[in-house]
Parts: sequence; structure tokens; C-alpha cells
Amino acid sequence: MKAISYEGKRKMSVSDQPKPKLKTPNDAILRVTTTGICGSDLHMYDGRTPLEKGTVVGHEIMGVIEQVGAAVSSIKKGDRVVLPFNIACGFCFNCHRGHTEACLTMNPSQAHAAYGYAGMGPYQGGQAEFVLVPHADFNCLKLPGTPGDQWEDDFLLLSDVFPTAFHATELAGVAPGKTVAIFGAGPVGLLSAYCSVLKGASEVYVVDNIDERLSKAEELGATPVDFSTGDPVEQIFAMRKHNRGIQEGLRPGEEKMQGVDCAIDAVGYQARSDDDPDQEKATQVLENCVKVVNPTGSIGVIGVYIAPDPGAKDKEAKKGVYPFPLADFFDKGITMGSGQAPVKKYNEYLRDLIVNGKAKPSKIVSHRIPIEEAPDAYDKFDQRIDGYTKVLIKFDKAA
Ligand SMILES: NC(=O)c1ccc[n+]([C@@H]2O[C@H](COP(=O)([O-])OP(=O)(O)OC[C@H]3O[C@@H](n4cnc5c(N)ncnc54)[C@H](O)[C@@H]3O)[C@@H](O)[C@H]2O)c1
Ligand SMILES: [Zn+2]
Ligand SMILES: [Zn+2]
Repeated sequence: MKAISYEGKRKMSVSDQPKPKLKTPNDAILRVTTTGICGSDLHMYDGRTPLEKGTVVGHEIMGVIEQVGAAVSSIKKGDRVVLPFNIACGFCFNCHRGHTEACLTMNPSQAHAAYGYAGMGPYQGGQAEFVLVPHADFNCLKLPGTPGDQWEDDFLLLSDVFPTAFHATELAGVAPGKTVAIFGAGPVGLLSAYCSVLKGASEVYVVDNIDERLSKAEELGATPVDFSTGDPVEQIFAMRKHNRGIQEGLRPGEEKMQGVDCAIDAVGYQARSDDDPDQEKATQVLENCVKVVNPTGSIGVIGVYIAPDPGAKDKEAKKGVYPFPLADFFDKGITMGSGQAPVKKYNEYLRDLIVNGKAKPSKIVSHRIPIEEAPDAYDKFDQRIDGYTKVLIKFDKAA
């Protein structure tokens, strides 16, 4: 079968791989119809994770069940399903409590597992014609419709970025009427804005420096903030200060609440410096989040911070250790949540928003390509050029 494999820093190749075979009676084999390239894949692409050459990558996966093991009872050959990027067993301490992002049994070295990802266990990825699905009863979300229908791309986004963005809004405490600042207008940031709008937030700001991504944020109902034109936090303070509706309703002391209730870091450790976007500054977005939230506000850190980071500049950063404005954080009494998203906690509900016409996350998809074009798409998505925002690889011609 054809698949995308990692062949070294900034080199993804289309390679021939053996078709997976069932390993346990709980497994299934999925014929992939659509798979996505994630911002998380770029950390591996950039050589910022220790990843063995030849690894088949890809953790955003949907398709049609080709074969099931003897113990699989709730899905069968021919069913259309999407997989959470987290691989989980369903029976461990964390899975029992809904924390499928921290499954204890699927990865011998860590409390989490995923398809085709550095450090996430011995699983091949789904940027391939077929993929092995462990514990298929637990990990498959059944979908209505047929491959290539009007929901195909929306459903694919249920594997990761739509639930991940929803989780970011949960971590940040987004609720009706709340004010939100989101850093990063990649797929995760854009869908965090979309989820904030769906939840009824009163103000949603999205910070980035890429024009087409900022325009997309605006299209989704958010206020774009370009960090290349000045300190983004000061820009948000100024916009709020010039909003008469906000200012005229203030009581004494409330001028201290010049920022927002909720901030989301949808960038992670490869953040660019606001002062010099050609340079990385891993702590830039965390610092901005602490600055932009009001006293008693909340921060959701959904952008990833990974160690070891062989590509980091100094010894501490290679271990994932960074300076953090702890005093301001404490002083404001900020709540912060972080980590991988427990996709399974949300994917059924978000599927039903899609099916009932209440959500259309595929508005953020910019490119649909055959697998042969994936190496080039990685390169353009990595450089964030030519409007490459969300790339989907199509295997089934109908999809
Ligand atoms: N926690 C999870 O479960 C989970 C799941 C999926 C993705 N992620 C992570 O989310 C992050 C975003 O991924 P993505 O798919 O949206 O792709 P992405 O990497 O394309 O998006 C990042 C965006 O941040 C912007 N950016 C860089 N520096 C910035 C700064 N200082 N201020 C504001 N914006 C800045 C970039 O221009 C880019 O548009 C990545 O770190 C990814 O690994 C986490
Ligand atoms: Zn991902
Ligand atoms: Zn588990």
C-alpha cells in the first residue's frame, strides 16, 4: 500500500509499505478515505522530535472498515468511522474517567498513545491506504452517510482539530458572554474561535501574522489581530478601550479588567517572537496569555510543548524547561489547563452538530490533494505559504 513516511528532517516520502494485518481479536483494519496533515506533524517534519526514519505518520484518520477481529462486536466490515488521534484501551484507570488522552496501557513508555507520532507508542500512522485500529470497539466513532458525501471533510476534522479546539475552549473556560483571546490562527486556533462563537462568547480575538489565516478568523466571526503591526496584547487592550459599549458599562475599579476572561495558546513551543517573526521564542504566547487575561481569568494551553527537543537553542529548552512569568500568573489568580485533547469526550456531540447542520468545521480546509502531492504540501504548510492552512489527503476518489 502507499503511505507517507518520515525520512529525515523536512523529508516526507511516498513509500510502499506492507498492508497491516490484525494483531489481536480486538483490532480492525480501516481502509482510509481521507486523512489530514496536522500542525503537530510539523514538529516531527522540522526534526524537533526524536523519530525513527521510515515511520508512517498521520493521526487524523477516517474511512471504511475493511476487516474486524473475532472479538469486535459493535462495528463491522463496511461501516464508515473516524478515529480519535488518541489510541485508548477503554479499561484503564484514566480511560474509565474519560481521560483517553492519558491511557495507561497502550504505550509502554508514556501515559498516552497515538497513530504515527514520535513517543506515542508503536503504532503506524494513517497517512496510508490502510491502518490498524487497536481496540476497535472503543476507538471507532460510527458515522452516517457514504464516503465523499457533504460531511466527509467535516467528519475528518472530528479525529483531532475540531474536538481539540473544543477542548481548548473548555480548558480556557469559554462560555456564553465570555471574552476570549486566541493566539495562533492555524487549524486549531481557527476552530477554537469557531467553537467560542458556537458557545456564545461575546468577544473573540485571534492573533497571528498570516493574512489569509486572519481573514479566515474574521470569516468565522472573530476579530483578527496582526502581531506584525504591534504588541498584540496592547492591540486587544486598545480595541476594548475604544469599545463604547464596554466602557460605558464599567463600574469603579473595572478599568483593571482591560483584558479578556479566557486566553488560548494554539501555537506551542515553536512560537515566533512578536518582535522578530523570523526568530522562535518558545515562551512568547504563554507570556502574552498571562498578560491578556484579567485577574481570575483562565488559560487553555493546547499548542504543544515537547521534550526532548533536539532542535532547541539552549540546554534547558532542549529539556523543555523555559522561564515563565509565575508572579503575574499567581498575582492574577489565573487558572491554566493544558495537554492533549481527550477527543472521545467530545467527538459524538460534535458529530451530531455537523449532522444536524449546526456546525461546518470544514470551512477551514484549504487544500484537498492525492497522496503523491503530500511531500510538497508538507513543505508549503510548514512554511505557511500559498494559503496552505489545512491539507486533506484523499485516497478514495469519491471522497
Ligand atoms: N493538545 C492537542 O491535543 C493538540 C492537537 C492538535 C494540535 N496541537 C498543537 O496545536 C498547535 C497548532 O497547530 P495547528 O494545526 O493549528 O497548526 P499551525 O502550526 O499551522 O498553527 C500555528 C499558528 O501559530 C502562528 N503563530 C506563530 N507564532 C505566533 C505568535 N507569537 N502569536 C500568534 N500566532 C503565532 C503561526 O503563524 C500559525 O498560523 C501545534 O502546536 C500543534 O502541535 C495540539
Ligand atoms: Zn494533531
Ligand atoms: Zn486506557
